[in-house]
Amino acid sequence: MKKITVVGAGNVGATVAETIARKDMVEEVVLIDIKEGLPQGKALDLAQSAAVHLFDTKVTGTNDYADTANSDICVITAGLPRKPGMSRDDLLSMNANIVKSVTEQFIVHSPNAIIIVVSNPLDAMTYVAAVKSNLPKTKVMGMAGVLDAARFRAFIKMELGVSIRDIQCMLLGGHGDTMVPMPRYTTVAGTPLPALLPAEKIAPMVERTKFGGGELVKLMGTSAWYAPGAAAAEMCEAIVKNSNRILPCAVWADGVYGLDGVFVGLPVRLGRNGVEEIVELELNEEEKTLLKVSVDDVKYNVQRLHELGL
Ligand code: NAI
Ligand code: 2OP
Repeated sequence: MKKITVVGAGNVGATVAETIARKDMVEEVVLIDIKEGLPQGKALDLAQSAAVHLFDTKVTGTNDYADTANSDICVITAGLPRKPGMSRDDLLSMNANIVKSVTEQFIVHSPNAIIIVVSNPLDAMTYVAAVKSNLPKTKVMGMAGVLDAARFRAFIKMELGVSIRDIQCMLLGGHGDTMVPMPRYTTVAGTPLPALLPAEKIAPMVERTKFGGGELVKLMGTSAWYAPGAAAAEMCEAIVKNSNRILPCAVWADGVYGLDGVFVGLPVRLGRNGVEEIVELELNEEEKTLLKVSVDDVKYNVQRLHELGL
């Protein structure tokens, strides 16, 4: 794979492009935005940082989708971020129109690309990109679980003082307040979290993870970008390198986990074809219930999309 397009040259998009470039995983990364000058300026700034960071990836900025032609992957970050007091769902109709428009423009020039959606509300926007691109559903996915799991891992590191390298975490469900961090499938050097910490220590970390996006919006007046950008780049790397990483991603679930056709966060094996496999974990009754609540929230958003004629 040679070329990745990042749509939206704002906070998250620029961080995705920078992380991809610094990892030298493809020949070219293209930043495209509706604002004139912004993607060109950020691309030039990034290209100049290559002399210090020592990467060879070409970084291009443009407002013209012709320049994105023959991309292998497209990361869609275009859209409005959350402002204080705004839920991810408030963004639904505004961002659905943006995701629809950019998907339709992108896919003409790269009909075989893999699409990774970042724009919120994440699971519903992934559905929009899948419908508007008409790609096989294994080639369309959303980034959320890698970010949310990274937040959970960060809180575990703060609590236990161990290296982040030794903390593995799984998380299911939609990218909303009902997401489902999975302590039973979270391990520190192989030991499940519930064997290391009492339930009253785990519960606050689970809650902080679920509301982790909102915590940052309150602090900064806009949503996060370092961890989201790094998380989307990690998914790109798994696909480009065909590394078969197992990561939580928003994927089309039909017939797995008892689900009947919805984009939602599940563990998947990522490779050059996109979603190579959805990994089915054995869930207990409580986990099944929590996943159902989260899936119902995602379905409600998709239903609202239909009601709004989107
Ligand atoms: P931002 O405002 O910094 O950047 C968004 C960019 O999209 C702007 O540069 C804007 O000009 C561009 N844009 C708007 N309409 C466009 C169009 N039609 N075509 C091309 N570009 C267009 O916002 P930020 O912080 O980068 O967030 C972007 C999106 O990502 C938001 O929806 C935010 O909620 C979401 N997000 C999702 C996360 C996740 O875990 N899935 C995490 C963090 C943010
Ligand atoms: C986040 O979780 C707002 O979805 C965004 O940071």
